[in-house]
Amino acid sequence: MNLLDGKFLAQQIKDELKTAVESIRVQGGKIPHLAAVLVGEDPASQAYVRNKVRSCEEVGFGSTLIRKEADTTEAELLSIVAQLNADPEIDGFIVQLPLPKHIDENKVTLAIDPRKDVDGFHPVNFGRMAQGLPAYLPATPFGILEMLRRYDIPTQGKEVVVIGRSNIVGTPMSILLSRKGNPGDATVTICHSRTRDLAEHARRADILIVAIGRTEMVTADMVKPGAGVIDVGMNRVDDPALPKGYRLTGDVDFQAVAPKASWITPVPGGVGQLTVMALLMNTLKAARSEVFG
Ligand code: GUN
Repeated sequence: MNLLDGKFLAQQIKDELKTAVESIRVQGGKIPHLAAVLVGEDPASQAYVRNKVRSCEEVGFGSTLIRKEADTTEAELLSIVAQLNADPEIDGFIVQLPLPKHIDENKVTLAIDPRKDVDGFHPVNFGRMAQGLPAYLPATPFGILEMLRRYDIPTQGKEVVVIGRSNIVGTPMSILLSRKGNPGDATVTICHSRTRDLAEHARRADILIVAIGRTEMVTADMVKPGAGVIDVGMNRVDDPALPKGYRLTGDVDFQAVAPKASWITPVPGGVGQLTVMALLMNTLKAARSEVFG
């Protein structure tokens, strides 16, 4: 079994981004600048956003963090989005999800200028992705494509089973891998909470991608011997014995599945590491006007 090392790849990409920033600096170009908006106190969201801002600093990007109280109104948030849309210093920005219940996430996503939508959540970017046009790809699927590419894992003609149909991971992942190209050209099945006999589908997979958000739900009997396994899960499980009071687990029972797989991504240290790098790669594209010209 091979472990796909997200940490190693993230460092490789970080070094490439640093070099790109250096070359922009030498040529007197615009240094990429990412803004992140965080509403409320959700601990996981705070950690994700901190990580995004820290990664910007590490590669030499500009970064702006806008923190708002949980009782921020939808109108206030929409006004922040409008300001970021209009600010020429900001190349791309994200509004961290989930938002407090009183704010309509769709309305906020639609308000983001697609040219600055480095999360790739706006329907314009989603549509462009689906049609194979230049687009900001959502960070997690983009990170997974990068992992497949850099480990030279063939996908052409493979049976790929994606478990989970979210707008930000499962659905775009299934589209990207079924499209023409490399990675791509796979035969993709998408499974979800209403799928009959999930295990039966999962067992057919040459490559199994799990993004369902349920701790260790994929067990060894659901994996074909020699399959590749990508675990997108990032679940916090209470563990009073640890200093933080919790541990991170994936959606795959790693201990049981790893010996059966030909390769697998760990949690932590797998896909999550690349998600942030994908966001930074999108921000670099935004600064270079590569997607929309
Ligand atoms: N919440 C969980 N993942 C993401 C992400 O990729 N972007 C944003 N904005 N919020 C998230």
